[in-house]
Amino acid sequence: MSELLRATIFHTPRNPFLSADGLEVFSDGGLAIEAGRVSGCGEFDELRRRFPSAQVRDLRGGFLLPGFVDTHVHYPQVRVLGALGHQLLDWLNQSALPEEVRMRDRDHARCVAGEFLRGLASHGTTTALVFGAHFASAMEVFFEAAVSSGLRITSGLVVSDRMLLPELHVSPQEAYQQNGDLIRRYHKRGVEYAVTPRFALSASEALLEVCQTLMREHPGVRFQTHINENASEIAEVARLFPWAEDYLAVYEKFDLVSDRSVLAHNVHTTDKALARLGAHKASVAHCPSSNASLGSGLFPLRRHIAAGVRVALGTDVGGGTGFGMLKEGLQAYLLQRLAPEGLVLTPAQLLYLATRAGAEALGLANETGDFSEGRSADFVYLRPPERSPLEAVTRNAESAQRVLAALFTLAGSESVVETRVRGQQVYRAEETRSP
Ligand code: GUN
Ligand code: ZN
Repeated sequence: MSELLRATIFHTPRNPFLSADGLEVFSDGGLAIEAGRVSGCGEFDELRRRFPSAQVRDLRGGFLLPGFVDTHVHYPQVRVLGALGHQLLDWLNQSALPEEVRMRDRDHARCVAGEFLRGLASHGTTTALVFGAHFASAMEVFFEAAVSSGLRITSGLVVSDRMLLPELHVSPQEAYQQNGDLIRRYHKRGVEYAVTPRFALSASEALLEVCQTLMREHPGVRFQTHINENASEIAEVARLFPWAEDYLAVYEKFDLVSDRSVLAHNVHTTDKALARLGAHKASVAHCPSSNASLGSGLFPLRRHIAAGVRVALGTDVGGGTGFGMLKEGLQAYLLQRLAPEGLVLTPAQLLYLATRAGAEALGLANETGDFSEGRSADFVYLRPPERSPLEAVTRNAESAQRVLAALFTLAGSESVVETRVRGQQVYRAEETRSP
């Protein structure tokens, strides 16, 4: 049965950093869905004529956006959200890593997996590149929960063999075996796999070589790690890899930087490294809340764009401040206002960074990230709570751009009514608001 949803619709089928008309808005819009795919998106009246037998659902007063794509978020870190007051290495030692050790208990991991996946769906996120846990058993329960959640998840076992807590270390041989086993069991069976060394600081050359081998042996899997986040981290990486010209060169030496790679943070970088990242067609996950919360620094977005580096958004739960991708967009905007040579981001650019840019970074742009015909019906239905400031703004806004800016400024999970992936509901707010 085909459906026709009537609401205000926003999406960015073209990159608004490159094209003046990147944003498409339909104030009285229609989104037609057939067999889990978008069969049309445009003005409601026109869609009504094109799909006369579709069942209409009138959601006027609400908003349909492509489901958000979070390109950097840690599954084991839900319960460390809000541990404020530290810089990266102290925060890891005092908050994040002790919590990650608890993931060796399968029941604990299952519980956290549920909290994590609900956190994504309840904030309108439909696709995520997820930093996993250090334990294969925790990844088994996570992949199983991810498949049943219906969300679009790419993730992998985190590997490290030094400098963390000893419980979190594996030998390169164990890393090879455990990754190979997980890839064979789960990759492309409802989830996708990403080879995931935590960061160069906690990886020996032998371990990075194992990652290289895995990437070569499994050409469909992706790669994720951290880079250039914090001054002390960068100094330590320089000490550990004295032969490397910079942090990026460590990953380059093992062929880990390509169009399959998403590198998180990249706050402190050079024009030379940016040119190389652009040439590799690698993506950077920009995590503004985390960068501010951990005092990591101001992200040089203008220089990334100028160098042609692909950038998308990540919440970096739990170094970040929550699952909300709209909030993450707002933080990107606010911090660019303060950054030297910061870009004044438009609402269209924020929407692109939170949706299509992420789909491009994950190689999923033909499948999700906007409402072009044929895409999977992955979307979030937002509705301002009654008598909320967001409702007052959206009811009276003079333009659609103003409405979109207000959604980024004011809409949190309380405004998410429904989240769908492949046309199927993955979240519905319990306390339903009309209609
Ligand atoms: N670098 C290595 N591990 C982490 C982590 O868990 N969070 C962040 N923000 N950076 C890291
Ligand atoms: Zn991270």
